[in-house]
Amino acid sequence: MDEAEEKEKNLEKIKAEVLNCKKCSLHKDRIYPVIGEGSHRAKIIFCGEGPGAQEDRTGRPFCGAAGKILDELLVSVGIKREDVYICNILKCRPPQNRDPNQEEIEACTSYLERQIKIIKPKVICPLGRYSMQFLMEKFGLKDETQPIGKIHGKVFEVKNLFGSVKIIPLYHPAVVTYNSNMKEILKKDFQILKNLR
Ligand code: URA
Ligand code: SF4
Repeated sequence: MDEAEEKEKNLEKIKAEVLNCKKCSLHKDRIYPVIGEGSHRAKIIFCGEGPGAQEDRTGRPFCGAAGKILDELLVSVGIKREDVYICNILKCRPPQNRDPNQEEIEACTSYLERQIKIIKPKVICPLGRYSMQFLMEKFGLKDETQPIGKIHGKVFEVKNLFGSVKIIPLYHPAVVTYNSNMKEILKKDFQILKNLR
C-alpha cells in the first residue's frame, strides 16, 4: 500500500467510527456528524469549533454563513478550498450552536488528533478560541496561549517527530457576521498563508 492509500484507509476508518460515535451526548440531536473534508495531502488544516445548522444537515464543514466567509478569505489569498483540509474540534452540532463544553472536547478530539497525524500538515490554523486553546495545549504551547485578540495571526512553530508545524490562531470567520469590520483583520491575517501553502 502506498502512502496515499494508507492515508485514505486511515481517514476512512475515522469516518466509520465517527458515523457511529456515541461518546458524548451530542450524538443524540445530530443529523449528520461533520468529519472533515479536503485534500489528504493538505499543507494547511483549518480547524473550526463545531458544525452549525447547515453543516449538520449536509455533513460538510463550513458550508453555511461562516463557510461563505472562509471561502472568501481563501480566495483572497489564492488558496483553493480543495487543496486544504477543513474540520472541527467537535464532529457533532452543539444544540443552538452553543459553545463546546470540556466533556465534549475531551470525548471528541482524539478524532482530530488522528486526522492531524495522518495528514501531517505544515500549518494548522485553529479558527476561534476553543480550537486555539485545544490545539495550542496539544502542541505544547499552553504557556504561550493568550486571548485570541492578542495572538490572532501570530505564527507559533513547533518541532515534532515529522518535522515542524506552524500553529497560526485565527479569529473564527463567523465573527464577521456580527462585526463586518473583522473581515479586514481576518484578510490581513490570511496573508501569512500565501507563502506557506
Ligand atoms: N462553524 C464552525 O466552527 N465549523 C463549521 O463547520 C461551521 C461553522
Ligand atoms: Fe462522538 Fe464527537 Fe459526536 Fe460526541 S461530538 S458523539 S464524541 S463524534
